[in-house]
Amino acid sequence: MARLVITGGKRLSGKVSIGGRKNSAVAVMPATLLCQEPCTLENIPDIEDVQVYRSILKAMGVPISHTSEGRYTIDGGAYVPDGPPPHDLVKKMRASYYLLGALLGRYGRAEVALPGGCDIGQRPIDQHLKGFRALGAECEVEGGTVRALAPSGLRGANIYLDVVSVGATINIMLAAALAQGTTVIENAAKEPHIVDLANFINAAGGRVTGAGTDVIRVVGAEALYGCNHAIIFDEIQAATYMIAAVATRGDVVVENVIPKHLDPISAKLQETGAQVLENGDSIRVIMDGRAKAANIKTLPYPGFPTDAQQPMSALLSVAEGTSYVSETIWEGRFKHFEELRRMGTDVRIEGRTAIIEGVEELTGASVRATDLRAGAALIVAGLLAHGDTEITGIEHIDRGYEHTTENLQALGAQLRRVE
Ligand code: EPU
Repeated sequence: MARLVITGGKRLSGKVSIGGRKNSAVAVMPATLLCQEPCTLENIPDIEDVQVYRSILKAMGVPISHTSEGRYTIDGGAYVPDGPPPHDLVKKMRASYYLLGALLGRYGRAEVALPGGCDIGQRPIDQHLKGFRALGAECEVEGGTVRALAPSGLRGANIYLDVVSVGATINIMLAAALAQGTTVIENAAKEPHIVDLANFINAAGGRVTGAGTDVIRVVGAEALYGCNHAIIFDEIQAATYMIAAVATRGDVVVENVIPKHLDPISAKLQETGAQVLENGDSIRVIMDGRAKAANIKTLPYPGFPTDAQQPMSALLSVAEGTSYVSETIWEGRFKHFEELRRMGTDVRIEGRTAIIEGVEELTGASVRATDLRAGAALIVAGLLAHGDTEITGIEHIDRGYEHTTENLQALGAQLRRVE
């Protein structure tokens, strides 16, 4: 089984360039099924979740070609519906449920197995189904499969989401893009990848306004056509390198980012004592000395992202003082603490809050990544720890981080991947 072996204590310094965002790529790839002509997507990250999506589309018979690094051409127009996408692939990831919105929007019917993804808590899809129903679809979940049917087509509607959900916002935007009339999504998610998807739909001839606010308006188009679209940068990979820079008391420039999107991370790292310098499309993070404790509460964008909570709590393990980490999005997102404890983290869990008493240093140990961002937390912990850390379960990390070993080695980390 593949593993990462990190010899900790090396100060990170240098530059790292950030690629495309996982959670945007896996929304825009299925969105191409709404289009009658081939679409070219650029800046698609080289990660396992993208490879799974590629396999799903291939297995469905959608022509998809990988023409150069990060560039894919997908011909949704050539797709002929022929049964549900393969269950075994659909279950490998969460974002496979965007096939529901895209197929329902284009063909008025969709049948897709319930998705998989990281085991970080309950992941209901009631808000997705509520949206599809409001647009006129009949939906049922039976035997692990979701079926949605709109024999007389979808009609625009007003939909108020009961919880701010990234996935439901995206799925409803996909379904509404070709519906008759106007759909208004209220209490919508505001993440930059929602804006990225809106930009894609608009480039293909759609009419989406308000993305990035909590009210999104989708005026259904007659048809969507081919377009070129470059995926936005991955803010969680960027955040992970920024956190790792602070954790190793380093000096790292993170390039190809939109600094504004990283404000919640930058603000928190400044509280720990780091210098964060923005310069155009890059951010430099410099840390001298030991980090100070900081409190975190995860929230939908523009709050502190849950996906960065785990790597951040690895840093707080060695901060001076007591840190309170509240996880409000996923009730199962504290599994990394079990592993961090093996390395010396002093943490007490009270409900959905982790109380971390910062220790002077962590010690390398054999640990296992239980999910994607737990893996990122263990990498940060391994980089700052004294001695060797061996991380197994790195297939979780491969789902969402690209060129991890090479990037960290270039920054001066001592690590190797053992297959
Ligand atoms: N929720 C409901 N009902 C729904 C949908 C969501 O109650 O129908 C609840 C969830 O249980 C959760 C909250 O709403 O408590 C937010 O869930 P959301 O739908 O926003 O999450 P998601 O779309 O399933 C995406 C990312 C996650 C990221 C969250 C929050 C993808 C593929 N996944 O999940 O990313 O944590 O948004 O930002 O986009 C990761 O990349 O490691 C990851 C887990």
